[in-house]
Amino acid sequence: MEDKIRVLLPEDEVDARVEEIGKKISEDYAGQSVHLICVLKGGVFFTCELAKRITVPVSMDFMCVSSYGAGTQSSGVVRIIKDLDEPLAGKHVLIVEDIIDSGRTLSYLIEVLKQRGPADIRICTLLDKPSRRVKKEVQVDYTCFSIPDEFVVGYGLDYDQKYRNLPYIGVVEV
Ligand code: IMP
Ligand code: MG
Repeated sequence: MEDKIRVLLPEDEVDARVEEIGKKISEDYAGQSVHLICVLKGGVFFTCELAKRITVPVSMDFMCVSSYGAGTQSSGVVRIIKDLDEPLAGKHVLIVEDIIDSGRTLSYLIEVLKQRGPADIRICTLLDKPSRRVKKEVQVDYTCFSIPDEFVVGYGLDYDQKYRNLPYIGVVEV
C-alpha cells in the first residue's frame, strides 16, 4: 500500500534555502573552521547538502540518538545509539538536525556535547515546528523553514523508516 503524499516544500525551494543558509554560515564562520555534527539518521541528507555549500573548512562527525518509541510522540527519554568518533575540545561545533519538534532531543544533545569542551555550539535545522516546543530554552541559530504542526517526510525524514529519500518535504495524507 502506497501512502498519498502532499508536497509541502518542493525540491527547488528546499535547495535554494539550503544554499542561502550555507552562505550565511560561511559568512558567520569566516576565518574559522566548522565541525558539523550530523544527527542520524534524519539529518544526513540535509547535512550533505549543507556541507557542499559551506566555503570555510568543514569537518564532520555523526551521532545517532533516539527519542521516540514506536509512535510519533517524543517520549522525552533520549538514548545515544552511536556516539561521535572525534573529541570536541576547542572546536566550533554546529549541530545539524532534520527537525526540531518538542526540542527534547536537542536539549539533551546540547547538554551532553557542552561537557566535551567545544569552543562554541550552534544549532542548524532544516525544519522547525515552533508550536510544538516544550523545551523553550533551546536557541536555534539557523532554521531553513518553520512549518505548521504536521507530520512531514522526505529529505531525510521518515515515517516508519520510509520516504527518507524523497527529494522534497511532504505530508503523509491520512
Ligand atoms: P523532538 O525531540 O521532539 O524535538 O524530536 C525530534 C525528532 O523527532 C526529529 O529529529 C525527528 O527524528 C523526529 N520528528 C519530529 N517531527 C517529525 C516529523 O514531522 N516527521 C518525521 N520525524 C519527526
Ligand atoms: Mg532527528
